[in-house]
Amino acid sequence: MCGTLNVLRSSSSPRSRPPFPPIIPNSHPSVLHSHFSPPPTLSSSSSSSSSSPLCSLIISLHSPLSLLPMGPPEATEALLSEIATNGGHCENSSYFDGWKAYDQDPYHPTENPDGVIQMGLAENQLCHDLLEGWLRENPAASICTPEGSSQFKFVANFQDYHGLPSFRFAVAKFMEKARGGRVTFDPNRIVMSGGATGAQETLAFCLANPGDAFLIPTPYYPAFDRDFCWRTKARLLPIHCESSNGFKITAAALDDAYESAGKTKARVKGILVTNPSNPLGTTMDRETLQTLFSFVNEKRIHLICDEIFGGTVFKSQPFVSVVEIAAAGEANIDRSLVHVVSSLSKDLGLPGFRVGIIYSFNDAVVATARKMSSFGLVSSQTQHLLGAMLSDEEFTSRYLAENARRLAERHEEFTDGLKRVGIRCLDSNGGLFCWMDLRPMLKEKTPDGELELWRVIVNEVKLNVSPGSAFHCREPGWFRVCFANMDGETTATALRRIRRFVERAREAEEKEVKRKEKKRWDSGLRLSLPRRFDQNFAMAAIISSPHSPLVQATN
Ligand SMILES: Cc1ncc(COP(=O)(O)O)c(C=O)c1O
Repeated sequence: MCGTLNVLRSSSSPRSRPPFPPIIPNSHPSVLHSHFSPPPTLSSSSSSSSSSPLCSLIISLHSPLSLLPMGPPEATEALLSEIATNGGHCENSSYFDGWKAYDQDPYHPTENPDGVIQMGLAENQLCHDLLEGWLRENPAASICTPEGSSQFKFVANFQDYHGLPSFRFAVAKFMEKARGGRVTFDPNRIVMSGGATGAQETLAFCLANPGDAFLIPTPYYPAFDRDFCWRTKARLLPIHCESSNGFKITAAALDDAYESAGKTKARVKGILVTNPSNPLGTTMDRETLQTLFSFVNEKRIHLICDEIFGGTVFKSQPFVSVVEIAAAGEANIDRSLVHVVSSLSKDLGLPGFRVGIIYSFNDAVVATARKMSSFGLVSSQTQHLLGAMLSDEEFTSRYLAENARRLAERHEEFTDGLKRVGIRCLDSNGGLFCWMDLRPMLKEKTPDGELELWRVIVNEVKLNVSPGSAFHCREPGWFRVCFANMDGETTATALRRIRRFVERAREAEEKEVKRKEKKRWDSGLRLSLPRRFDQNFAMAAIISSPHSPLVQATN
């Protein structure tokens, strides 16, 4: 199977879309278009000679760049800013290529059952029924219903960048609840942004000058390179974490990263961590948080903690927010160095609402971020609706408990299915994904070997999973697989495909071992060995081939 790789060429050989609306049970292709598909640029229109004339016409009609003078792409690029042309949006990565593969051939249980299943999208679609139920029971919360339309004028006119007080208060309460009620958030320190994406960029603008660096533990969310660095020109420098300790951040790794940064003459302004981690799905223990606190205190640098997955913790170890440690003054920390990013995209499964939050203990950061928030405010209509929903404490308690229960159930179903075919995942307790260990399946233990396996998984197994290299993981063979953006049947289909893939890989491996044995036999090697020894050797090779693609489960 591995010998018949089809290299992914999403742009050069697009498949035609199936003739049905692109609404499928596990995702929305439109997400790709809105966030990551390149808008029709001159390069897409210049390659449009290979597409249909109608397609070229649509591209040129919709493209703002169609107003630009026609000419070679380089000539047009010269008319644009350095930021517009520097590639900092990071679209050219396997992370986004996988999305394109899905977009060209999206799975649908009846219309396109052999299509690509989207497992590269960290979306939480498991509890939308609860949100819809609340909306039905509370029609006055929306200005688009007869019950709520009396508020239309007020909501339509509201534009204060402090945000609706009811919204800020309700978000603060929700964040407290998602952290087990052990912390309090001051609504006056809550600043809005366009999703956590906007929050990251705003913080980078507040804390870093162009060229300044933040240290970040690997593996990390690929779009941080875009969110934190593209327009701000800040830099991210890796703190390399290893699988040997479950990718935990250690004091030694922090020191190494700081020292390496010094060698590049980068001015380190802080550390950016994600807790619970994307892609690992693990939470940081108190000890690790305290190590981080001591480090930033000693170096007088900032600590940004992205807690966007705070409400997705579903198992055992409680989620300890950085706010809990800062508030308790446990590590004798200067709290003005601590900033939290959150959003309602994951905990509530509302990425389309673009609700991002910056929470800072630093008054100057709060004030500056608030001024900057003019560029990415949450619409007052969204604030009004969510302010009402999140003020319903009975609902939010029920939602968080049920969300955790469903995530735990899906996580168990998925990891058990993998375990049954011998695939192990990093032990995790939060997030919307697993960090799957396919190291034993690599032909070559290199980044290229990882990408080779990834192409087989995307093109032949038809699952869009994301390779570890896209997350800056230094150890080849890890893959992130999302499990909360699909229904149960799609999950079962994905698991069936994985099982078939592993079985075929195992059969191919056994055949290969036998073929090699036969060759050795035929080449006359056996003439120099007693027959019984030769047979035993062949059996042992089959049973314990060091190249066996089967991963042995350890938990
Ligand atoms: C760690 C992390 N931060 C930020 C974001 C962006 O979230 P939002 O949709 O709120 O912009 C994501 C999205 O996947 C994420 O995983």
